[in-house]
Amino acid sequence: MTLPFEPDALIEALTIVEPGAAARRDAIRVVRAPGRVNLIGEHTDYNDGLVLPAAIDREIRLAYLPTDDRRVELTRLDDGQRHGFDLDEPYRPTGTWIDYASATAAALAEAGLPVGGLRGVVTSNLPENAGLSSSAAIELAVAWALLGDASDGVDRLTLARICQRAENAFVGVQCGLMDQFSVSCAMAGVALLLDCRSLEWRPVALPANLVLVVCHTGSQRRLEASDYNGRRAQCEAAFAGLALLDPSIRSLRDVGPELLARGAATLDPVVARRAAHVVAENDRVRTVVAAFEAGDLAAVGEAFRAGHASLRDLFEVSSPELDALVEIAGITPGVVAARMTGAGFGGCTVNLVWPDAVDAFRTTVLDRYPAMTGLQPMVIPVAAADGVDRIA
Ligand code: GLA
Repeated sequence: MTLPFEPDALIEALTIVEPGAAARRDAIRVVRAPGRVNLIGEHTDYNDGLVLPAAIDREIRLAYLPTDDRRVELTRLDDGQRHGFDLDEPYRPTGTWIDYASATAAALAEAGLPVGGLRGVVTSNLPENAGLSSSAAIELAVAWALLGDASDGVDRLTLARICQRAENAFVGVQCGLMDQFSVSCAMAGVALLLDCRSLEWRPVALPANLVLVVCHTGSQRRLEASDYNGRRAQCEAAFAGLALLDPSIRSLRDVGPELLARGAATLDPVVARRAAHVVAENDRVRTVVAAFEAGDLAAVGEAFRAGHASLRDLFEVSSPELDALVEIAGITPGVVAARMTGAGFGGCTVNLVWPDAVDAFRTTVLDRYPAMTGLQPMVIPVAAADGVDRIA
């Protein structure tokens, strides 16, 4: 059975799930919110650093009927799971996907924005728990639905920060801004260079003739269950230690090689490795942006290789599965650059591939990866997509 995905089919599905919806068909709206892939700049966002994500043409879609009550009810079409919450009740976690929706509602209310009740159905072609920001996609889709027409009046960056706050204050993941920013602000065909300190950002053209390919390890992960918050705490410990040597620094963003070298001996060795990753990773973002702009694909490949090695050896968030995918990419002709993407602890790799090499890359991954890991991978060519939007 194929799930409804086009707006008309989703509206139809909503009228079946919510019997009252048929009579108010004209009031039904559909929003879409994409996932994202990060080209480079991992675990830099919460250190005031640089990131280079793009939204992808894999997305969550939400068809909803605004209601006059203060109740939100959402049904996920792939498994029929239905969850809901009252907008006037305090946030209460359930351990299910609805928490992203109720946390978003709580953060919007906290920001003083008007939210209204709704009934909705959700569908998706974005793999969940794959490090492609399906949670940020739910948050932004739900934010747009809860705000209704008022969403037009809220600036996209502001909305991204409110959704980040939903994760930080309510879900309990101390994430940076990258995922919510990507889902909210992305533009088709380009990556976005975001400075997480100034919040200035600009589009960066991707090499026009290369295909962006996401490879999913098939291993699931949820940030709540990972040591993501622990990594963030280690970065804060590194900053605190280095600030003793140089009180002028405001975050790891300000640490250069000299301070890092001087401070390393004073820090716990694990904490020192985390800092070394962040410092070099910010430089790699600058390198990749310059290399994209100069068409220097060899430099992109080298920065991706170094970035992956650093996440594996210094930040220690890669996995044998992610390493296997990067290793396979490394021996496949026509793969220009490959590395793990997102938080790590499982999830996906991002690859830049010549168009005529994509099929061979897929075949090689499907041939070799299961024997190396015992898991089934997914090879997903993607295009850089627009951010969250109302489509009906
Ligand atoms: C997750 C977080 C982001 C970012 C990345 C790692 O995706 O949500 O804020 O920290 O991990 O770069």
